[in-house]
Amino acid sequence: MASVLRRSMVTSSTTKPRVLITGALGQLGSTLGRLLRQRYGSDNVVSADVRVPPAEIAAQGPFVYVDVLNYDQLAKVVVENRINWVVHFSALLSAVGEKNPKLALDVNITGFQNVMDLASKHKLTVFCPSTIGAFGPTTPRVNTPDITIMRPTTIYGITKVHAELLGEWYHRNHGVDFRSLRYPGIISAETPPGGGTTDYAVDIFHHALKTGSYTSFLGPNTRLPMMYIPDCLEGTIQFLETPREHLKMCTYNMSGIDFTPTELADSIRKFIPNLVKKTSPPPPLLHNSVILTTRTHTESRLQARLSPGHRRLVAAVARRLARAQGLGLVAQVLDRRHEQGHD
Ligand SMILES: NC(=O)c1ccc[n+]([C@@H]2O[C@H](COP(=O)([O-])OP(=O)(O)OC[C@H]3O[C@@H](n4cnc5c(N)ncnc54)[C@H](O)[C@@H]3O)[C@@H](O)[C@H]2O)c1
Repeated sequence: MASVLRRSMVTSSTTKPRVLITGALGQLGSTLGRLLRQRYGSDNVVSADVRVPPAEIAAQGPFVYVDVLNYDQLAKVVVENRINWVVHFSALLSAVGEKNPKLALDVNITGFQNVMDLASKHKLTVFCPSTIGAFGPTTPRVNTPDITIMRPTTIYGITKVHAELLGEWYHRNHGVDFRSLRYPGIISAETPPGGGTTDYAVDIFHHALKTGSYTSFLGPNTRLPMMYIPDCLEGTIQFLETPREHLKMCTYNMSGIDFTPTELADSIRKFIPNLVKKTSPPPPLLHNSVILTTRTHTESRLQARLSPGHRRLVAAVARRLARAQGLGLVAQVLDRRHEQGHD
């Protein structure tokens, strides 16, 4: 019942949240975990996944094995760690889900139901991101409203619509503070993407730095909405810390920039001039996949955005990746450009 909804966690020293991050070793969880620990204290954030954590994540704070399909395991961790806030990141993303629909249905639907049932029992706040993949071919493509037509054509999209609606149901009927943002494709330099349609935008940097050549599985002019990971996580933390009474709904769109494989390759070529771009026809799945932007873009606004924002993003990812991959010389050149204010 809306009237008994709990206020969001606040960051004062007396009321720091006790956070559980499921799927914490993924592209987003591994970085969000570090940020939340800096904010709320290492011991107040418990990371969980079904894989062995890399040493640097294990050293950051508590890590536990939790398979979200195992209700009792999840319940034990929530109860024993006095969790009051769950960031639910465990999921199979679009490309992986399409290859293994049964597992995607299990993890994305049953895993989420387990979390929501526990949230109702133990008065937890739950954040579970949705995705632009929850839209479909009939969704309006420009200025897409928060409440709109949603008829996705992938298993991943279907499971995310289910999560949005089930979360709202628990909110309305059981007073669970459920929150969700529809993320665009997330670009990160440190952590690899988990198998989504937008992964090409990260892979292309790796190929550009290592082999100087990249074949895009998307059409050259396929425009997809994207966001650089620091912006996504900063927005997510702001959203999590927003008092519940300031939110009118449970689920909102989140938008950053958008670009095509051709535009991205052209931008990267400014930093790595030898990059050769090849494109191949999209596989059958992607013929039907919807290409959306959650903001209006006229050609002139797009140009304006591409210059500062897109260039900064491309430069930042290229610099970090070059360093991470031990490409010292490339990193030095890119760092120098940055210091000289070229990007
Ligand atoms: N990365 C993106 O571009 C993007 C875009 C839109 C939405 N999202 C959403 O953000 C969330 C996090 O995405 P990500 O990119 O970090 O995903 P990811 O694939 O990188 O990580 C998912 C994690 O879930 C774990 N997992 C899988 N099955 C599990 C199980 N049974 N129990 C517990 N953990 C399990 C995996 O080991 C993995 O570490 C997901 O809900 C995803 O749908 C991501």
